Amino acid sequence: MKKAKVTVVGAGNVGATAAQRIVEKQLADVVLIDIVDGLPQGKALDMMQSAATEGFDTSIIGTNNYADTAGSDVVVITAGIARKPGMSRDDLLNTNAKIVGSVTEQIVSQSPDAIIIVVSNPLDVMTQLAWQKSGLDANRVFGMAGVLDSSRYACFIAEALNCSIKDVRAMVLGGHGDTMVPVPQYSTVNGIAITELLDAKTIEAINDRTRHGGAEIVKYLKTGSAFYAPSASSVAMVEAVLLDSGRVLPCCALLQGQYGVDNLYCGVPVELGREGVRRVIELDLNQSELVALQESVSAVKELASQV
Ligand code: LAC
Repeated sequence: MKKAKVTVVGAGNVGATAAQRIVEKQLADVVLIDIVDGLPQGKALDMMQSAATEGFDTSIIGTNNYADTAGSDVVVITAGIARKPGMSRDDLLNTNAKIVGSVTEQIVSQSPDAIIIVVSNPLDVMTQLAWQKSGLDANRVFGMAGVLDSSRYACFIAEALNCSIKDVRAMVLGGHGDTMVPVPQYSTVNGIAITELLDAKTIEAINDRTRHGGAEIVKYLKTGSAFYAPSASSVAMVEAVLLDSGRVLPCCALLQGQYGVDNLYCGVPVELGREGVRRVIELDLNQSELVALQESVSAVKELASQV
């Protein structure tokens, strides 16, 4: 069977770690591309030299040339600058819009049938931009953030309950920013909503820590932002696509009337398969969750209008 081909754009921390996870899981052969001469080549060669020890039969090459990405099944776009302490994801808007726009055009010229997963920030607006630049159907272009935010939420829930994280399923909706919407009633420990397991004050503290989960790490690192959890989250989406698994994951997808939103990318649960987003799932939200989601949508809309 022919191996799948995944291109990762950007050989920084998120991109290189995503590439490493994909080859180590043997999901696909990987092309790691970056504009910096030598960076993707050096990291890819280093990873290949771990293959004997790690025991993977997939391969990775590094390049600065988009021709090498031709025929990719999935492309993960991580290119762009990351934030420094004190910066919000929104501060990256103009710089990253230029980068993501140009990357998308070059990707599609080589891989017109690819699925594109956007990771660059500000996530929702960059995903919308990539979709517009790509000319692809909206199911083929979506963004990674809900998996990451939910993964952070799950981490804090497991910590508060001192339970196994394997039993925790968490749900965060909305834009990947300070207005994101953790949804306690759809966050469970083996099916039991956390509202039955934790008091309201504890839940609100966890929700708040989740909303600022990325900033907490930027503050520690000082020179960049998180990459272990972001790369793991992107790879979970790549895997769902390549295996055509039908996993339901919160992703940044185009809303076309769902949740009362039209023609805007925002974080919602979707079913993922080989063609990308099979469908957007509409949750039955309570009044305060709906209001919070509307606020988040407005924040994304406002930022999108600046591009
Ligand atoms: C974060 C960045 C990657 O949330 O958006 O850590």
